[in-house]
Amino acid sequence: MMGRGTILLLIVGALGAYYFYIPLPDNLEETWKVLWMHTHMKTLTNLGLFVEFLGMNHFMISAKFLMNFQEVPPTSDENVSVMETTFDNIPVRVYLPKRKSEMLRRGLFYIHGGGWCLGSAALLTYDVLSRKTAERLDAIVISTDYRLAPEYHFPNQFEDVYNVLKWFLHQDVLERYGVDAERIGVAGDSAGGNLAAAVVQQLRDDPDVKVKIKIQVLVYPALQTLDFDSPSYRENGHFPLFTKSLTVRAWSEYFTTDRSLEKAMLSNQHVPLESSHLFKFVNWSSLLPERFTKGHVYNNPTFGGSELSKKYPGFLDVRAAPLLADDSKLRGLPVTYILTCQYDVLRDDGVMYATRLRNAGVRVTHNHIEDGFHGALFSHELKIGSRTENQYISWLSENL
Ligand SMILES: *[C@@H]1O[C@H](CO)[C@@H](O)[C@H](O)[C@H]1NC(C)=O
Ligand SMILES: *[C@@H]1O[C@H](CO)[C@@H](O)[C@H](O)[C@H]1NC(C)=O
Repeated sequence: MMGRGTILLLIVGALGAYYFYIPLPDNLEETWKVLWMHTHMKTLTNLGLFVEFLGMNHFMISAKFLMNFQEVPPTSDENVSVMETTFDNIPVRVYLPKRKSEMLRRGLFYIHGGGWCLGSAALLTYDVLSRKTAERLDAIVISTDYRLAPEYHFPNQFEDVYNVLKWFLHQDVLERYGVDAERIGVAGDSAGGNLAAAVVQQLRDDPDVKVKIKIQVLVYPALQTLDFDSPSYRENGHFPLFTKSLTVRAWSEYFTTDRSLEKAMLSNQHVPLESSHLFKFVNWSSLLPERFTKGHVYNNPTFGGSELSKKYPGFLDVRAAPLLADDSKLRGLPVTYILTCQYDVLRDDGVMYATRLRNAGVRVTHNHIEDGFHGALFSHELKIGSRTENQYISWLSENL
């Protein structure tokens, strides 16, 4: 006979395993660590959603509060000086290599991720990456902040980043930091990759800016708001760490705190008929190579959201969704590095942009990580983290 204690233990164990365990693909390394990170993240997410459900705190405010603990002060080390300053009244961190240099240095402008709601240049992960980049490339790294949702919505995030970048590109600022105007890159991950792609597109046609950006680096970027039912959304909607529901929540928060936009986006019925011409820019049935589309049937769009798009026109704006740019706007963009991960809802955004840029004659290096997932570049506790980081830094080193 099993005692009551044993039965209770079995039930708790089964519930625990149900919560903890999710099937993961065979080619993923260190699955237990990934599951552990997933459980941690899921618990915090559920806690945040519960607090929001009780009407106490907006979900992103709770998430921001928890993330603040991961911020570090700007501390110089033996190789790199780290300073905080402002460019056009927006806080930035500047990483300056200490070793002497007779020549002007390369410059990298970095934009952090966090779904337009979270994150800062001060987060440990970003601080570590910027420091390493400055040291290994002997380059100046500018890591920028920008205003975040839910307090601020589009176009504030975009405009902050754009203004900081333009400030940095002034002749006298470049001279002050000893930066070579012909060797400047713009990089970002996730929402930062979105902002990087957007500012690089806008810069191309800005008569005020004389400097030509040499490279853009888009790490698992979010690039389109039209179709949340592409193969990568279908396949990875529940993948650990970064789900479709979180992604769509972040996208909708970029434009408004009104949850009706999120609801419409989740059912993929948020684009009005008047905007049907935009779908060709995100038509994955023609823009993805077959290995990504196989087994998936393309459904022509369902229209809706006329009211929503009048209230929140930002979600159809090319500065928010760089994949919506016309081909003529893609020509002449800088040499591009796009990193995508197989197990990421945003995978197809990056792959489609690679296709469209190549079709427009832009030189693109597409690094697709077969066993990767969203956040791989910053998974320092995993082998995939250092592998991805080395690939990222080597490419920068050779192309910037
Ligand atoms: C500084 O550079 C030296 C030489 O490359 C290296 O051995 C050392 O680990 C670096 N220090 C830090 C704090 O990264
Ligand atoms: C998408 O592309 C497919 C074929 O490549 C085509 O049949 C379909 O009409 C296109 N849909 C839209 C909305 O552009």
